[in-house]
Amino acid sequence: MGSDILTAENVGFRYADVPVLRHVDLGVASGAVIALTGANGSGKSTLLHLLAGVAQPAEGCVHRRPGTRLALLPQRTSDIDATPLTVAECVQIGRFTLRRRLSRDDRAAIAQIMQRLDIAHLARQRLRELSGGQRQRTLIAQALVQDADVYLLDEPTAALDTHSRQRVHELLAERVATGAAVVVASHDPAETALADRTFHLDGTMTSTAIAR
Ligand SMILES: Nc1ncnc2c1ncn2[C@@H]1O[C@H](COP(=O)(O)OP(=O)(O)OP(=O)(O)O)[C@@H](O)[C@H]1O
Ligand SMILES: [Mg+2]
Repeated sequence: MGSDILTAENVGFRYADVPVLRHVDLGVASGAVIALTGANGSGKSTLLHLLAGVAQPAEGCVHRRPGTRLALLPQRTSDIDATPLTVAECVQIGRFTLRRRLSRDDRAAIAQIMQRLDIAHLARQRLRELSGGQRQRTLIAQALVQDADVYLLDEPTAALDTHSRQRVHELLAERVATGAAVVVASHDPAETALADRTFHLDGTMTSTAIAR
């Protein structure tokens, strides 16, 4: 599709010899919100990793329009608990670049997202000292503070209370309003209902895109 900034074409993937995805075709346009649904083990996280480029397809291809900036919030993030990172440092990583120091705009964006996600008071705490929901809000802040064209989010709100979930959805809507796209894996019908399209992985390794 011409207007898509990120596409998967006839993508297949396997872990060792075990096939997980086959014949996946998905196009992501600017400003689109796509929900990835399907049972545990159907391949949602795997597909997000392929879209993000942290895994490579065994068949087919993933194409990113040149210059497209991607932000990935993985589902499995336990490795980070082994680090001594504080909440503030973890969010700053979202704005980190090898080319320059954090600018005033970067610092403002970091302060704002920490306030919006109600983690500013936790700034000096280490990640491993947080509750599950506080930790998840910190990782969401790290993803959403990035100035991305596509946000790839793997069950972002699964650990969150209703109020925090609402705040995340507001932040996502703001980013979409300025042209960013969101691909979100979720088991929450209220969350998937916010999407323009649902892409359902039915576990038979043949994808189904259901337009609402
Ligand atoms: N690192 C791995 N090595 C081998 N098999 C894996 C690996 N990661 C995932 N799998 C397998 O690939 C399949 C798809 O896993 P994936 O994590 O993509 O599913 P999912 O749809 O995200 O599930 P969930 O809803 O539980 O998060 C599963 O059958 C899983 O057992
Ligand atoms: Mg998953």
